[in-house]
Amino acid sequence: MKDLISITDLTVEELQELIDKALDIIECPDKYAEKCKRKKLATLFFEPSTRTRLSFEAAMLELGGSVLGFSEANSSSAAKGESVADTARTVACYADIIAMRHPKEGAPLVAASAADIPVINAGDGGHNHPTQTLTDLLTIYREKGGFSNLKIGFCGDLKFGRTVHSLINAMCRYEGNEFVLISPEELRVPGYIRKDLLDRGGFKYVETDNWDLLPELDILYMTRVQRERFFNEADYLRLKDVFILTAEKLRSAKEDLCIMHPLPRVNEIERAVDDDPRACYFKQVLNGKYIRMALILKLLGIE
Ligand code: NCD
Repeated sequence: MKDLISITDLTVEELQELIDKALDIIECPDKYAEKCKRKKLATLFFEPSTRTRLSFEAAMLELGGSVLGFSEANSSSAAKGESVADTARTVACYADIIAMRHPKEGAPLVAASAADIPVINAGDGGHNHPTQTLTDLLTIYREKGGFSNLKIGFCGDLKFGRTVHSLINAMCRYEGNEFVLISPEELRVPGYIRKDLLDRGGFKYVETDNWDLLPELDILYMTRVQRERFFNEADYLRLKDVFILTAEKLRSAKEDLCIMHPLPRVNEIERAVDDDPRACYFKQVLNGKYIRMALILKLLGIE
């Protein structure tokens, strides 16, 4: 495997290897401090980001490597009309590995075929976000001890939320998981997720527009309504605050519920929930750095 474009580019065994590596990095960080000496990571971000870009950069710096790149399309030659393929081929002359975020679905795949260095999809439009999924998997592993027989609720924008698509894809590779898909009718998961993953895999799932099943969940994955992917502002305004997780609602939830969110949060989790021991979203942020360290090592072929 040269690149990471979709979470299915990694086998279940490789996922576990990355988790184990991240746990070892957490345990013995000094061992890894110089592993990427003289290596360079380029972050090519054509869309806004805080966690993904900075965690990639922090990951490379903690491995002893260095970073270069841009954080908005306007500051790159994309603004002059350069293609993604040409940009990627150019950057491959300066760096050893690329992390790319782009509003167009498939752009990182195009970059991967143009560049002869590893390309990581750091989010492509409303499609996929495999490194957020790695972050989520490390969090689930640390909180739940494994990936099977879990009842997982996804809530919010399941249509445009790329983190949701990639995580459902990953969790469908383990046995006995059940899915509760909580969203307004207009923001249900795309048909391909329903048919190709959930139906074909024979998974139990329900699509609902209310919180009735909250008490049964082991994991609740909240998401923001993806304003930038809407065709009109009126629809966004109508749908943005339909599902808000409150401390009050959580009174009916399991004591060991794991509450996740890829962040950024807008309104969908009330601030009071942050103090609940079940809130795991800031732990996720930290896990994101460690698992990206493990991924960079793997793609660069460094032991
Ligand atoms: C997510 C993304 O970019 O898709 N954020 C992230 O990478 N942590 C979620 C979002 O923007 O809502």
